Amino acid sequence: MGGSIFIVQCAPCHGLQADGIDGKAANLNVRLEEKTVKHVINNGQGMLGFPAPMPDRNGLMNVNTNALITDAEIDAVAKYVAGGMKGTEGADVFAGTCAACHGADGKGMEMVAPSIAEFNPTLVADVLKHGKKGAIGAMPAFNNLTEAQVKALGAYVTDLSK
Ligand code: HEC
Ligand code: HEC
Repeated sequence: MGGSIFIVQCAPCHGLQADGIDGKAANLNVRLEEKTVKHVINNGQGMLGFPAPMPDRNGLMNVNTNALITDAEIDAVAKYVAGGMKGTEGADVFAGTCAACHGADGKGMEMVAPSIAEFNPTLVADVLKHGKKGAIGAMPAFNNLTEAQVKALGAYVTDLSK
């Protein structure tokens, strides 16, 4: 069911392979693209319905260095997150700056911050409910879907990036 709704409602922007059609929409085969991570760190974000938004770079302190996040740290941590949180480069920045809200494993914390390590049905439902605006472009909210359709799409998108 998720796949057939996707073809009709989502593929016009995301593509039949969900690869984002050359940058027109988010590539859903990966959790996050590097430019998206950088954009969110630089500008903050608050559209997915969490009680408090993510602060922009002027509010992001690295507790390891006791200073605001630097350009070099943003580069390193954006690569780390977009690369699936593997390797050591950027891992210290993540632990010192991001883990407090997103969790040590990046899988998010209920009522605090979403998973940035993988898609899950809750995150997909939040995006469908609120829409999404960011480095890539704008996605409208989809408030005409039934609960069962949202669930099916959540499962479909979660499987794509595995
Ligand atoms: C104070 C808590 C907090 C900290 C610290 C924080 N975030 Fe977030 N982050 C959030 C919240 C809350 C959201 C969801 C915002 C929304 O509602 O749109 C978010 C969203 C994101 C998103 C967008 C996810 C998506 O798919 O929309 C990315 C990427 C992200 N954070 C990366 C990071 C990185 C990398 C760091 C460390 C440099 C970091 N965050 C630090 C709270 C935080
Ligand atoms: C009008 C074009 C359009 C349509 C239709 C559309 N999307 Fe999107 N979607 C986007 C864009 C653009 C983004 C990236 C927003 C950004 O972060 O810049 C996005 C982002 C997303 C994200 C978040 C990706 C991330 O990294 O956090 C998810 C999940 C998603 N779309 C799922 C869907 C699903 C499921 C459907 C079908 C019900 C759909 N989209 C339909 C344009 C669209």
